[in-house]
Amino acid sequence: MEFRIEGMSSKVRKAVFPAAGLGTRFLPATKAQPKEMLPLVDKPLIQYGVEEAIHSGMNNIIIVTGRGKSAIEDHFDVSFELEHMLETRGKRDTLAQVRSISDMIDVSYVRQKEALGLGHAVLRVKELVGPEPFSVVLSDDVIDAEIPCLQQLLEIHSFYGASVVALMEVDGPEISSYGVVNADPIAHPGLGDHSLYRIHNLVEKPKQGEAPSNLAIIGRYILTPEIFESIEAIAPGSGGEIQLTDSLKHLLRSRPIYGLKFEGKRYDAGDKLGFLKATVEFALKRHDLGAPFRQYLKSLSL
Ligand code: UTP
Repeated sequence: MEFRIEGMSSKVRKAVFPAAGLGTRFLPATKAQPKEMLPLVDKPLIQYGVEEAIHSGMNNIIIVTGRGKSAIEDHFDVSFELEHMLETRGKRDTLAQVRSISDMIDVSYVRQKEALGLGHAVLRVKELVGPEPFSVVLSDDVIDAEIPCLQQLLEIHSFYGASVVALMEVDGPEISSYGVVNADPIAHPGLGDHSLYRIHNLVEKPKQGEAPSNLAIIGRYILTPEIFESIEAIAPGSGGEIQLTDSLKHLLRSRPIYGLKFEGKRYDAGDKLGFLKATVEFALKRHDLGAPFRQYLKSLSL
């Protein structure tokens, strides 16, 4: 995919990770730990998202935490005891892996005391983000892509200087679980037809038969700072929560919003079946595990 970048907006340096949801679809595993810490093969979901943000050029990570705060903080912090033990036992490769997490980046934390919705979680970072565009990553949406999904969105943001959301086609009744857009495709250099959309309206979790399209919003956003005023302006919506989708609808009154059907495969790792699919496919791709795991799967009489 080739893009022409006009540099109309300031650089996006900050990536926000809302991780304060209750994770009810993954109980009982999420009773005492956030779903963002569930391991996909051997890395917690949130680490995949943080790596995607870093590979997309962001160097400032902000995590919105709720329960199980310490597990996420400890994961990105230095673990002196563990490092010392690995060093004395000569486990150099594992030591390098463990160090690479804490060396990765500076992480800030903001607390969302009550899970009042994704929009409410994003509003918690208003002071830390300030008057600049930023990205939002929902790390239970794991995306396997040649060009990181966030980077694909950033290139559109740089061109238009506007907010951009990731879109995916969802057919059938499943569409009612998503924020859904009403949008028209627009031509963009280097992109195929029906890849980039100008959004006209958004609906959070539409009832069956009432979805304006089959284009669902997936958990990657580049947002301009006006979104904070829009979150403050809206009332609770679907499920009694302050919805980010409703605030985007409010933002549309004054700013354009674009949607990109990104290139890559997305897994809903916040759902048990989606998590299992991601686990199998990520394990098969691993150079250290892929071959024996494939052999094992073949040996099962399915
Ligand atoms: P989900 O819609 O997946 O909700 O949140 P959830 O509560 O985490 O999970 P389920 O549906 O009950 O299983 C999308 C993202 O928004 C964050 C979640 O942590 C997740 O990353 N979130 C949601 C918050 O940070 N705060 C909230 O109040 C709600």
